Amino acid sequence: MLPSNPKLTSGSRWPERGVHRMSKVIAVFGAGTGLGASVAHRFGREGFRVALVARRKKYLDALVEQLAVGGVEAAAFTADLSRPSEVPALVARIRDRFGRVDVVEYGPFSTEQSLIPAAEMDAAALEKGIPMFLLTPVEVVRAVSAGVDTARRWSLPPDHRRHGRPPRAPAQRPGPPRRRRPQLPALSPR
Ligand SMILES: NC(=O)c1ccc[n+]([C@@H]2O[C@H](COP(=O)([O-])OP(=O)(O)OC[C@H]3O[C@@H](n4cnc5c(N)ncnc54)[C@H](OP(=O)(O)O)[C@@H]3O)[C@@H](O)[C@H]2O)c1
Repeated sequence: MLPSNPKLTSGSRWPERGVHRMSKVIAVFGAGTGLGASVAHRFGREGFRVALVARRKKYLDALVEQLAVGGVEAAAFTADLSRPSEVPALVARIRDRFGRVDVVEYGPFSTEQSLIPAAEMDAAALEKGIPMFLLTPVEVVRAVSAGVDTARRWSLPPDHRRHGRPPRAPAQRPGPPRRRRPQLPALSPR
């Protein structure tokens, strides 16, 4: 079936190579049927290509197919996000396939995790979640931003830098005179 996205050239599954390499990429870390799938579809509709990461290939492949039906280019990457040391290689695989990563959505969740009432949370339970919910996201940000000109992409605009404050807004035309608040009568002691 041909993708329905009008940006795609007829007769080919994906756009011309040049255009294709240019379009932005979102990496969805923890791509399931819930939030992961919704984010993938939404960004895909905006012209993003989508990298889908989770452990079960079967479900990832199904999501890749669903996205393709809507004209969205996607690819599956199996990985266990509770292993932070494997993140650099995972991000390298995504970059090899798509050439870039512009947006990250990180939301792995499964039935193995249960929501613990705050009063029952203890150090052991918290420690269990540290690799996937703290260490791996740190590695993801590091791997994704490696090689990106962070000074250019995430710095303040030049005016901000020079003056340490935002540039002044352009002068406004004088509008109608402001109405003064009516004065309340002063309270007098009873
Ligand atoms: N869906 C909602 O309505 C909703 C509402 C509020 C908040 N949230 C939050 O949104 C986030 C996503 O939740 P969701 O249920 O919607 O998720 P989802 O996108 O349906 O799926 C998340 C996927 O993460 C994958 N995953 C779990 N552990 C993993 C691991 N160790 N390594 C790699 N992948 C792993 C699972 O696939 P595999 O098992 O194949 O790895 C799962 O399918 C969570 O943080 C959740 O708390 C969701």
